[in-house]
Amino acid sequence: MPRAKVEARTVFVCQACGGRSRKWTGQCPECRDWNTLVEEPEAAAPAAGDDARYGGLAGRAEVRRYSEIDVENAARVPSGFGEFDRVLGGGIVPGSMVLVGGEPGIGKSTLLLQVAARIAAAAGPVLYASGEESEQQVKERGQRLDVGDPDLYLLAETCLERLLEAVDRVRPRLLVVDSIQTIYSLNLASAPGSVGQVREAATHLLFGAKRRNLPTILVGHVTKDGSLAGPKVLEHVVDTVLYFEGERHHSHRVVRAVKNRFGAVSELGVFEMTGAGLVAVSNPSRLFLSDRAAGVPGSVVLCSLEGTRPILVEVQALVSTGAYGTARRMASGIDHNRLSLLLAVLEKRAGLGLAGEDVFVNVAGGLAIDEPAADLGVVAAVASSLRGRGVRPGTAVFGEVGLGGEVRGTPQAGLRVREAAQLGFTRCVMPEVNRGRETADAGCETVGVESVEDALDALLAVS
Ligand code: TYD
Ligand code: MG
Repeated sequence: MPRAKVEARTVFVCQACGGRSRKWTGQCPECRDWNTLVEEPEAAAPAAGDDARYGGLAGRAEVRRYSEIDVENAARVPSGFGEFDRVLGGGIVPGSMVLVGGEPGIGKSTLLLQVAARIAAAAGPVLYASGEESEQQVKERGQRLDVGDPDLYLLAETCLERLLEAVDRVRPRLLVVDSIQTIYSLNLASAPGSVGQVREAATHLLFGAKRRNLPTILVGHVTKDGSLAGPKVLEHVVDTVLYFEGERHHSHRVVRAVKNRFGAVSELGVFEMTGAGLVAVSNPSRLFLSDRAAGVPGSVVLCSLEGTRPILVEVQALVSTGAYGTARRMASGIDHNRLSLLLAVLEKRAGLGLAGEDVFVNVAGGLAIDEPAADLGVVAAVASSLRGRGVRPGTAVFGEVGLGGEVRGTPQAGLRVREAAQLGFTRCVMPEVNRGRETADAGCETVGVESVEDALDALLAVS
């Protein structure tokens, strides 16, 4: 790396107090905070106008009348993947910057190469800048994905300035940068992936995207604790943040929007990783329920809502007598504290003896659910396992459980019941307050319940 060829002068700026220092120190000389100094280019004089640090990149904006603003030109570019478009809120917005985060090996490069190839085939040149892999490696993956011969340009480059030059030459319709942590600017001496470099690169790419009206997709690494590596500002700079989730041992992958300036968040796109890349799954409920053995004690089908989309998942519970004195509680796919709370409600309000029992709860298929409407599914699965009695076949549930053992209403009940009916469920146990006109004609019998006890009677009664 041409580390020695640093021309511009840089300073180290404390991220907590803004104090400046010529050289890096562990502790800020001003506020005494630790590890807060980040390298930045020496700021140009404010009077420098267009030659200021970002002046040339951002261009000049004119004041315009609201009514004169043309929305037609902002038409979204479809990515060729219905599921990906859904997460973005209906396609890629011109001039927007999207950050795709995910663990290594989850399929980020695969998805983006597929998207790049489809847009190249449909809309014109796409530049795929890969700092992690050589052109040959990217092409080999492309051949596995059978992308054909689209108008796609590859660039194995990690230098920001040269990358921007290439953008000027190719004039692409879409830019993909895989990954932002490998890009460095000649203006800074610190290593690629450091806070200063990531921020510098992302800011320049953002201004480039806005000025050229060029949609830009960045790949970002995540750290061990699951947050995006690099500065938190990265999430603020970009328009949309997508997370790529999934378990290595399952073939399905979920793309989730956690921030979106152009659409709803917590919208979900579901894909399956196959030998020929990622394939969109248009009916996720069928996928998540595919391995289910109906009628087994401890298994309950839950109507969950992810963004605007209802998804049926199986909640499994296993209650077994603990051998070690202290009862173990384990949850995967739902919040551990929520499980403890629900178990306490079952003990106190429904009279189930759970003290001393080990309780394991799992959302099958590795999906994580964090909405309160999942409560009734968890409660029912635990009670079903404890009593050794399966839930009546063809039944799905949803509803929030309160500390008093009451079953509370949840949003979008009609949508949930319709999804259950579409997948062949004949009966929905749900909050009584949600029963109304929109659930009545959904094509599924609805059983309204007001308390956990009612719900368990409706679900586990031998008929
Ligand atoms: P990759 O896109 O390289 O992950 P990331 O960029 O997020 O690190 O995906 C790599 C994994 O995907 C690898 O384990 C192999 C698998 N894979 C398939 O199963 N099928 C395919 O067609 C491709 C290209 C990859
Ligand atoms: Mg990759």
